[in-house]
Amino acid sequence: MARYLVTGGSGFIGSNIVDELLHRNQEVAVLDNLSTGRKENLAGVRDRIAFHEADIRDLDKIRPLFQNTDYVIHLAALPSVPRSVADPITSNAVNIDGTLNVLVAARDAKVKRVVFAASSSAYGDNPVLPRVETHMPRPLSPYALTKLAGEYYCVMFTRLYGLETVALRYFNIFGPRQNPDSPYTGVLSIFIAAYLRGQTPTIFGDGEQSRDFTFVSNAVDATLRACTAEGAVGKVINVGTGDRYTLNQTVALLNKMFSKQVTPDHGPVRQGDVRESHADITLARQFLSYEPLVRFEDGLRRTADWARATLR
Ligand code: UD1
Repeated sequence: MARYLVTGGSGFIGSNIVDELLHRNQEVAVLDNLSTGRKENLAGVRDRIAFHEADIRDLDKIRPLFQNTDYVIHLAALPSVPRSVADPITSNAVNIDGTLNVLVAARDAKVKRVVFAASSSAYGDNPVLPRVETHMPRPLSPYALTKLAGEYYCVMFTRLYGLETVALRYFNIFGPRQNPDSPYTGVLSIFIAAYLRGQTPTIFGDGEQSRDFTFVSNAVDATLRACTAEGAVGKVINVGTGDRYTLNQTVALLNKMFSKQVTPDHGPVRQGDVRESHADITLARQFLSYEPLVRFEDGLRRTADWARATLR
C-alpha cells in the first residue's frame, strides 16, 4: 500500500481519482480549500480518507501534510479560461505560486513523485494539429500561461533538485461530478444540464471550434499510471483520446441522445478561446502504456446518465 496526497481531491477530477485509489486499496489524504471543490464529491468515502482543508497558497500550513507521502497528485487549481481573463491575479497566485509551494513541500518531505495536472490550453493558437508535446506552446489566456508555468516548474524541479515529476496535459476532461452550475465549468456539463432542464444552450462563436473531449476515467487511469511509470519522470505528456469533435457535432450527438431537436443560441467568441484542440497521444502510449478506454460518445452517455440521476 502506498500513501497518496491528492491536492484538489474534492474537485471533479480529484474525487474521481480518490475513488479509484481507494478501489485499489491505497491510503489517501486530500488537501483542498473547497473553493471550487465540493464536500459532497467525497461524501461516500469521507471515513476512509484523511481530509485537510487548506490552501496551497499557504506554504506553512500545507508543509506538514506532505510528510510520509509517497505520491502527490497535484490538481488543486483555479480552472477556467474566462475566470482567468476576468481575474488573472488570483489565477496566477493559485496556479503558479500554489504549484511552487506544492513542489517545495514535496521536495522537502522527500516524496517519491509529483504528478501535475497541466493543460492542453498551453498549445493555444499553435496552428499544427494534432498537438505534439514538442510543439511550441502559445498560451492565449492567463489560465493557459499559469498551467504552462506549472509544468516548467515541474521539469525544473526534477533537474534541479531530483524531485520526480510528471506533467500531464489534460485535454478537456468531462464526466460525472463536473459541476454544471458553475459558470466556469466545462461546456459538456453545461450543455447536458441545459438539455435536461429544457433550456437552450449557447455556443460561443460558430460552433466549429473543436476539442479532444476526454472522459474522466481515462484521465484517472493516465494519472495513476504516471505515479509509477518508469521513463515518465521529468516529462510533459498529453492525456487525451486522439479524436476531436466540434461543438456543432456535439450538439448533433446530444440531440440524438435526448431525442430532441435543439437549436443552440449563439454568442460572441470567448476571449482567450482556443480554436482547435486535438491530442497526439503517442507519448502517453509509450511512457504510460496508456490507452483511452472510454470513447467520447460512450463518455457522453455516462455523463448524461449521471446528470439525469443527480441534477435538479
Ligand atoms: C480549457 C482547456 C482545458 C482545461 C480547461 C479548464 C483548451 C483547448 N482546453 O478548456 O484543457 O481543462 O480550460 O477550465 O484550452 N463554450 C460554449 N458554450 C458554453 C461554454 C463553453 O460554446 O456554454 C465553448 C467555449 O467557448 C470553448 C468550448 O466551448 O470554445 C470549450 O469550453 P470549455 O469547456 O470552457 O473548455 P476550454 O476553455 O476549451
